[in-house]
Amino acid sequence: MVIVLNFGGQFAHLIARRVRDLGVRSEILPCDASLAHIKTLDPSGIILSGSPASVLEKGSPRMERGIFSLGIPILGICYGHQLMAHMLGGRVSPGKKKEYGREDLKIILGNELFHGFTGAKQSVWFSHGDQVIKLPGGFAKIASTAGCPIAGMANAKRRLFAIQFHPELTHTAIGEKVLSNFLFRICRAEKDWKLGAMLRKLEISLKREVGKNHVMIGISGGVDSLVAATLLHRAVGSRLHAAFVDTGLLRKNEVEDVTLSLKKQGFKNLHVVSAKNIFLRRLAGVADPEKKRKIIGHTFVEVFQRTVKQELKRYPVTFLAQGTIYPDRIESAATSKYAAKIKSHHNLTLPKSLRLSILEPLKEFYKDEVRKIGTLLGLPKELVWRHPFPGPGLAIRIVGEITAERLRILREADAIFTEELRASGEYGKIWQAFAVLLPLRTVGVMGDARTYEYMIALRAVDSVDGMSADWHKMPPELLERISTRIVGEVRGVNRVLYDVTQKPPATIEYE
Ligand code: XMP
Repeated sequence: MVIVLNFGGQFAHLIARRVRDLGVRSEILPCDASLAHIKTLDPSGIILSGSPASVLEKGSPRMERGIFSLGIPILGICYGHQLMAHMLGGRVSPGKKKEYGREDLKIILGNELFHGFTGAKQSVWFSHGDQVIKLPGGFAKIASTAGCPIAGMANAKRRLFAIQFHPELTHTAIGEKVLSNFLFRICRAEKDWKLGAMLRKLEISLKREVGKNHVMIGISGGVDSLVAATLLHRAVGSRLHAAFVDTGLLRKNEVEDVTLSLKKQGFKNLHVVSAKNIFLRRLAGVADPEKKRKIIGHTFVEVFQRTVKQELKRYPVTFLAQGTIYPDRIESAATSKYAAKIKSHHNLTLPKSLRLSILEPLKEFYKDEVRKIGTLLGLPKELVWRHPFPGPGLAIRIVGEITAERLRILREADAIFTEELRASGEYGKIWQAFAVLLPLRTVGVMGDARTYEYMIALRAVDSVDGMSADWHKMPPELLERISTRIVGEVRGVNRVLYDVTQKPPATIEYE
């Protein structure tokens, strides 16, 4: 097992995922994790993540100094590299210019971190302002660029290594090999992260934990709850009770597709709760995004709670299962304290009065691992590889007030968009794509008649985790086909726009 010490932002997650992809268990800990705690975990290596902070700022994140002397190999990345230098007696200074993007790196061949490399010149990804300008005692330089003379350093005797570039980014072609050298040559880490074997163990432990009791789960249409339900169903069979709340804000055919898939697996206690009318009624006349989100969140909990109570009258339900995944837990523990609230996220909270114990069968896994598990469990590809969909659903993709008519228009337009993306093979290249209804009317002409209808915006983004995103460079012929179909087939739309904004400054969703 390898520990990733988190100095901030999303860097730590990406590193942890890459380590797992290489077959080694990784756990993220806050950067100030205690020496004692780290010792009890007995890791074969420690990686120090990057951070948006600067080691030169007062109050910037630190780790316990004693960790450097544990004898456990350490790899510092970016901020981790600078911190290692700063804490061990080297010097860091604010760089004259920020290096961001691709850089030519000169490596010193023969270092263990670069084992197997034949060329001294490598192309890597940088993102930093500060840089190390003096090595700490006992360290040797192992890499440099034109603008950053100490882009890598090592103290082979103490098993301490550090690099300024980002091996976790796919743009750094040598990244995987560098990480793999660290894990297997330097740390001698065991390959202990194999999803197939873990799945079998998980099933057995769920069986043991639930015993003869019954479990309730809420299905949202998303991948996580679907995979969690399928896994639990394998473990406890018909003692699993699933509730799928149809908010009326879901995508076209979503309820049908998910229900069919669960029924195919032999699900007996599946309740599809039709709550469209309540949601529409409560949302009537509400245009403010935050108000819409709150209404949906509260109504959802209320409807779900009512369903749970009904099941409780008939069965001895003692557990509530949730599709929580690894980053959900880490994020709520680590970054939320500092992050400004941009949008209220709607996620199911446990009704405490029901006194149910929580089961989170996927809490150790990243999204891509959840998808692999879904595939191992035999779920259809179209469901497992679906783009993420927000809890408040189509409501935050209709700007302003929600009406049944607007929902119909958006649902149809979105279905055409998705259908064309799938047919052209573009769907799998995109992180998230959807249609948005802009409730502005503009003039058009159809046949010989004047039209005065709504616009549809198409949003498609490339992203790793939704935290930042770039607009997807869509082939123009495909855009044209989608636009022609939407305007021709969806009554109420006469104009289609393609969104070319990055996040930041825009968010992915419109509300
Ligand atoms: P934004 O719009 O903040 O979205 O750039 C980032 C990612 O989060 C999803 N999203 C949500 N997911 N509940 C969710 O479960 C929500 O309330 C919510 N709001 C946004 C969004 O679809 C994108 O993938």
